[in-house]
Amino acid sequence: MTTPPGRPADRPAAVIGGIGASLPPRVVTNQQVIEHGALDTSTDWITSRTGIHRRRLAGPDVGTGDLATAAARAAIDSAGPAGPRPDLLLLATTTPDRPCPATAPEVAHRLGLGPVPAFDLAAVCSGFLYALTTAAALLRSGTCQAPLVVAAEKYSAIIDPLDRDTAPLFGDAAAAVLLRRGDAAEPGALLETDWGSDGAGSDLIAIAGGGARLPATVGLRREEQYFRMRGRPVYAHAVRRMAASATAVLGATGWQPGDVRAFIGHQANQRILDAVADRLGIPPRHRFGNIREVGNTAGASVPLALADAAARGVRPPGAPTLLTAFGGGLTWASATLLWPDAPVRTAPPEPRPHTLDHKEVGTP
Ligand code: UT7
Repeated sequence: MTTPPGRPADRPAAVIGGIGASLPPRVVTNQQVIEHGALDTSTDWITSRTGIHRRRLAGPDVGTGDLATAAARAAIDSAGPAGPRPDLLLLATTTPDRPCPATAPEVAHRLGLGPVPAFDLAAVCSGFLYALTTAAALLRSGTCQAPLVVAAEKYSAIIDPLDRDTAPLFGDAAAAVLLRRGDAAEPGALLETDWGSDGAGSDLIAIAGGGARLPATVGLRREEQYFRMRGRPVYAHAVRRMAASATAVLGATGWQPGDVRAFIGHQANQRILDAVADRLGIPPRHRFGNIREVGNTAGASVPLALADAAARGVRPPGAPTLLTAFGGGLTWASATLLWPDAPVRTAPPEPRPHTLDHKEVGTP
């Protein structure tokens, strides 16, 4: 077990006690994405510029809540029968099943958690780390004892298959961690977090329509219906912001980059990940990710990569770990933690039960 330098071991900490993940079974290759959208690009361009070879895409019968429920249940299973009962559910997503209400209460209901507080948090690709930061603060304050932090995204629902700038990049997934109260020296302990935003860049990653400013009811142009991203400026922001945020959280923890044994960044682009790690001075042998297999799964990306690496046992429990993410908003966030020892559970998406189907109430 590693005791991080400069860190008082007696401060109560939020500890990851369970880890779960859910991926749709359907694997879609770059070639299939290109053919589906008749895109003016190539598999070579996609793999060399992004590191992505394939992704998982959910069918029309699967929603974000179905992915979230499966990952959340897996995280509860991971914590085992002696694990805590979740008393709050936070769902990081920018692809909620409906604009209203939030998806989280339905997920909590499907998990049988009873009348726990449950809400969505929208911070795009920084969503998981924003939710983790929020949940840990609520735990430390005594507001809750065992928050369940879920990140779930169905980007295939908002991506334009004809847009070569975004269609090859994204995939669908969910991942979740169950937190419990513990101490800062044990495996899974969350140590420090850093987060921030810059709304001056809010148009760089956006869906223009469907909200209050441009409601879906006005009749939207194709450009306004789908997720759009200006890749080049986003790339530059992503490298700069993640490197700065990671540096800040390392400083708050009392770690040098050389102390880090596991670096997991938002799986947006392999070149971005390498640039951030190079700037920080973290060598390739300490970098972990799964972008090659799953693409960019937005808010779910960091916990999914953590779950993947933890399932492979790449580091011993307690190893100093650095997470960082960047996304629309613009938002960014980072966290330091000790590598968890919870066994990772995975599950396919859970279909929405028939009893939750919308009942027509008729019109007067
Ligand atoms: O998850 C939230 C955060 N997201 C990110 O951090 C993503 C950030 N951005 C990126 O990952 C990259 O900017 C992209 C993968 C989106 C694009 O890669 P890039 O190396 O930055 O390409 P670029 O936008 O600088 O474009 C280079 C060239 C351009 O052509 P010209 O102007 O040099 O003639 C583009 O039109 O590549 C062209 N291009 C493409 N060519 C073939 C852009 N997309 C494609 C494509 N296939 N899919």
